[in-house]
Amino acid sequence: MSDQIQTARDAGVLSILIDRPDKKNALTGDMYDALIAAFDEADADPSIGAVLVSGAGGCFTAGNDIGDFLASASASMADFLALRFIRRLAILDTPIVAAVEGVAVGVGTTMILHCDLVYAGPNALFRMPFVDLGLVPEAGSSLLIPQQVGLQKASELLLLGEAFDAAEAHRLGIINSVVPNADLLAFATDRARRLAAKPRNALAATRRLLRGDRDVLLERIDAEAQLFAKALRSDEAKSAFMAFMARSKK
Ligand code: COA
Repeated sequence: MSDQIQTARDAGVLSILIDRPDKKNALTGDMYDALIAAFDEADADPSIGAVLVSGAGGCFTAGNDIGDFLASASASMADFLALRFIRRLAILDTPIVAAVEGVAVGVGTTMILHCDLVYAGPNALFRMPFVDLGLVPEAGSSLLIPQQVGLQKASELLLLGEAFDAAEAHRLGIINSVVPNADLLAFATDRARRLAAKPRNALAATRRLLRGDRDVLLERIDAEAQLFAKALRSDEAKSAFMAFMARSKK
């Protein structure tokens, strides 16, 4: 279990804190493992009615750890904890709320597409820089983003990889509302508690209906992952990762 993923339970809510602020909460294999365990715990425990995800140190997450990307370029698909995390998130039965402050890059943006309620501080910054990194979209985002924002806007977000702020995310309907940073966690916690107080089976069934056919989503996640794994081994990706690592050392 990673100490960079902290969990706490209160009033029917399992709160998950991504806690690696010195690296902008970038996610490693151990952290994905701990997130999967937390989702398993939430779904298995009838006293948990909602999950709340947030990040420590004023940011949500800068996405997958880029050093891990470099190290895993030769790994097989089955080894990708990131993929297991996304597949687990996609079939979560417990409703999930996100509180997003600061950067939400890569999987930091794509994971919120699987969240039922998303609240962001005014300083939240979303970005899906997959193409710039020599990669392809993941977490079903190639399916979910066009569904949510339309094909033309999705093309800007995924091909140009442009960053967008909380106000734009709200306008696009990717988040529910923009909440001042000082109130964000309390606001999101209140929403999670409200969900947790509702009938558990009715909530789970309703969110399944809202989210459509899981098999279609899982199929897309796997199709993306095949391309992603191939892209990870490409020269385009390796040079992008090395450029980031070199920049980090300066
Ligand atoms: N993987 C590994 N380390 C990361 C990271 C990531 N995804 N994102 C940030 N970090 C590390 C930086 O290397 C730096 O470490 P250092 O202090 O040891 O040098 C530390 O976190 C702080 O990041 P820094 O870049 O100095 O902060 P910033 O506020 O200037 O910029 C970001 C924040 C998120 C815009 C920038 O860090 C970034 O672009 N990160 C990469 C995001 C990304 O491409 N993720 C993968 C998506 S698929």
